[in-house]
Amino acid sequence: MTFSLIIPTLNEAGNIDPLLSGIFSLDTLGNQFEVIIVDDGSTDGTPDKVRQWQKTHDVRLIERRAQPDLTGSILDGTAAARYEVIAVMDADLSHPPDRLAALIQPVVDGTHDITVGSRYIAGGNTINWPFYRRWLSRAGGWLARSICDVNDATSGFFAFRKELIGNITKNARGYKILLELLMTGQGQLRIKEIPISFRDRQHGNSKLSLTHHLAYLLQLITLAGGTVSLHTASRFALVGFLGVFVDVFIFQWMTGHGASLASAHISSFIAAASFNYALNSKWSFRLHHAGHLQWKQFARFLTVGVFAMLLRGAILAWLVHTWDMPAEWAIFPAILTTAMVNYLGSAFYVFPRTEPPVSTDIRWRIASVGVACFVILLRLVYMDVAQLIPDEAYYWQYAQHMALSFFDHPPMVAWLIWLGTALAGQNEFGVRIGAFLCGLIAMAYLFALACNLYDKSTAMRSVLLFVIMPFGFATGLAMTPDAPLIAAWVATLYYMERALLANKSQAWLGIGIAFGLGILSKYTLGLLGIAALVYVILDPVARRWLLRPHPYLAVLVALLLFSPVIIWNMENNWASFLFQTGRVGNTQHEFATHQLLLQIATVLTPVGLVAAVLALRSIALHYREAPRKHLFIAVFTGVPLLVFLAISTFDSLRFHWTSPLWLALIPTMAWMIGQNGISGNIPAQLRTAWRPMITISLLAYAFVLHYVTLGIPGLPYQFLSEHYFWKETTAEVEKIAGEIRQTTGKEPIVVGMSKWSAASALAFYSKAPVLDIQSRNLFGQHAAMYSFWNPIPAPSGRPVLLIGMKQQALESSAATGNFEDKLINTGEIHSRPVYRQDGLLLRTLYYRTAEGYRGNTTP
Ligand code: GDD
Ligand code: MN
Repeated sequence: MTFSLIIPTLNEAGNIDPLLSGIFSLDTLGNQFEVIIVDDGSTDGTPDKVRQWQKTHDVRLIERRAQPDLTGSILDGTAAARYEVIAVMDADLSHPPDRLAALIQPVVDGTHDITVGSRYIAGGNTINWPFYRRWLSRAGGWLARSICDVNDATSGFFAFRKELIGNITKNARGYKILLELLMTGQGQLRIKEIPISFRDRQHGNSKLSLTHHLAYLLQLITLAGGTVSLHTASRFALVGFLGVFVDVFIFQWMTGHGASLASAHISSFIAAASFNYALNSKWSFRLHHAGHLQWKQFARFLTVGVFAMLLRGAILAWLVHTWDMPAEWAIFPAILTTAMVNYLGSAFYVFPRTEPPVSTDIRWRIASVGVACFVILLRLVYMDVAQLIPDEAYYWQYAQHMALSFFDHPPMVAWLIWLGTALAGQNEFGVRIGAFLCGLIAMAYLFALACNLYDKSTAMRSVLLFVIMPFGFATGLAMTPDAPLIAAWVATLYYMERALLANKSQAWLGIGIAFGLGILSKYTLGLLGIAALVYVILDPVARRWLLRPHPYLAVLVALLLFSPVIIWNMENNWASFLFQTGRVGNTQHEFATHQLLLQIATVLTPVGLVAAVLALRSIALHYREAPRKHLFIAVFTGVPLLVFLAISTFDSLRFHWTSPLWLALIPTMAWMIGQNGISGNIPAQLRTAWRPMITISLLAYAFVLHYVTLGIPGLPYQFLSEHYFWKETTAEVEKIAGEIRQTTGKEPIVVGMSKWSAASALAFYSKAPVLDIQSRNLFGQHAAMYSFWNPIPAPSGRPVLLIGMKQQALESSAATGNFEDKLINTGEIHSRPVYRQDGLLLRTLYYRTAEGYRGNTTP
């Protein structure tokens, strides 16, 4: 093997002898190599130690006089090297010399361009490293992984062909020359990782310092296509700092004069943002700005600004409402968070790096990371701030009546809420934390699935598409059975792919568990079972599994997990099975296939619908290239889709029912975005269509969440208010109940006049003294689980308070049933406006009082 081994040193006197004797005593390296020590002005006698070795071995010493720098040293060493293959290692024996041969061989053989001694692949590890160093290294590695597919891109132990160094910019600095090398040949390089055990040094100290970490961050941002430098960052910070004064001043002034949180923070934001844009474009990012107002750039700036603003509303509301922080203090952390969004948005989106150009692939990767982080942050803050919707309150009621299963849904949603509220308290956060975690699990499995089907870039885009599609965004926030269903659905797909395509037998255990947990979430998951069967029938390779025990054991595991539902149904006359089958086998037939398309466009976004169709087409067109993979995607999307299509010919579906089936197709949709030159220019057109769709969807979610919590100045609450604001509504109901208590001296029975919405929402938000809340089943009407929970009371002399979501619910009619028969002296229908603390009108509450309850006479 001929190669040059470069060893940078800075005060390593104690390590030179053990290192060089280690290297020269190896018999795997032969004797056709040189060692180049590049010293950066060590003061501990390192050069003298090296000179001792020069007498007997092929060791060269380069003594640099410039500013000490690791990258600079390696560049100098490479320039002086005699051979074509270069290897770099630390002098402190952290990198095992006996792995040198394995590291260098692939480059010498020409099978690979770069090899990396990796701590983070199977067989690699770190020994004796302090905890914080491990942690830092991991964190650094994770950041790098978003742009680079090497597991240990921050390694200092690597080999490469000498000519590659020419691609590195002359002003590269710092510790991470490897990352720079890896990024130059984007996608073209053949890279191999060799596992190593990294051990901490025995002599001397590490030279890695805080400035290196900072430099690394800046380097990452630049490589990722952002414009960042200490220069722009510090100017941006200074502008931002001045902007804070504008912001805080206006905010304080307005809240001091009675403005609401929303109008104060939005006004002050707009003022500060205009101020900042003027200064940033003229000054901080001056070099990246055309000098005159560019509409595209300004529109992007506004978009980032609106995102930042909508997020900060959430943070403000969260600090003020949940943590009782005074608004004049809460504005500071809120501003800080949005400054970060603004800065990253400016660096990557408003004023991105153009020279040298950044590949589309990297841009999409960065967009994926940015959007995913933004979505997670948005969910994290709003899941506590936004009030429950009635559905969530109903499932919370499940958790107050823990059982093996429930009438209208299997139990997973209840168990998750039970667990969440047991840990975090009876509040919105406790209810929703399960959904939030399910969202993360779904993202992780989707990523892994898409990695296996396609590649890492596709996987990142898959997650991006998933979180911006309405169903994906919502299921990570709202605690409904769909949250665990979606997570379990992707997990099942992931293990199915591993078992059926990759032939991994352990994956069957994963299938059993994911499938079992999924069917505990919602019965729809059963469709994946049918799809699996169809796949196994069609694919001869996978069919062999039928002769092995694994699939049957998986079914057994799933059945075991599902057994609570079976037991509950046995004890309750198969109530929920009958209900679910009754849903489909409805008596009134209705053609609804045209609606189905609209529903799909709603859960996927319109661009998503088009992309889905094109993805199916592309699978058909490219079927031959990877038949098994394409069959897998087609079957796991197509079978559930056909089932829904069939149902839609005679019955209408709820709009979100098809959501999970698209999970199998999202990787293909994401893959298409990255393709050039296939199917004409469809991928390019798709890319163009997705961009605004992603921005608009994300803006819509942030906007709606801001609207339902802090409000949007000038926009009244009218659209959804009968379903929402139950916190304030319940307080109003409690007031009315108090009045009744006073005048009659008796505790009223409060009846939510809907199947389950009103009763559940009232129950969740009712504070001590807790109201006696019932649902419509009191009058012999169907009320889902309430019919199980609340046995019909005997006739009672107590006053009755009827609460309606809307007025009609309190009118006696065919729709609501003749509930008046069961009451004595039903009063008029009253309405009361419900206000928020700050006086904003939220909604109207309809109620009606009655004198007594005759008991339910209908059987
Ligand atoms: N010429 C020169 N100039 N050499 C330097 C300089 C410098 O400015 N700074 C450090 N070195 C030498 C050290 O003498 C040592 O041989 C090698 O570079 C690594 O430096 P350490 O100070 O031991 O770094 P570390 O152990 O904390 O970091 C190691 O792990 C990191 C990954 O977590 C190195 O391998 C890094 O390259 C790696 O990124
Ligand atoms: Mn070291």
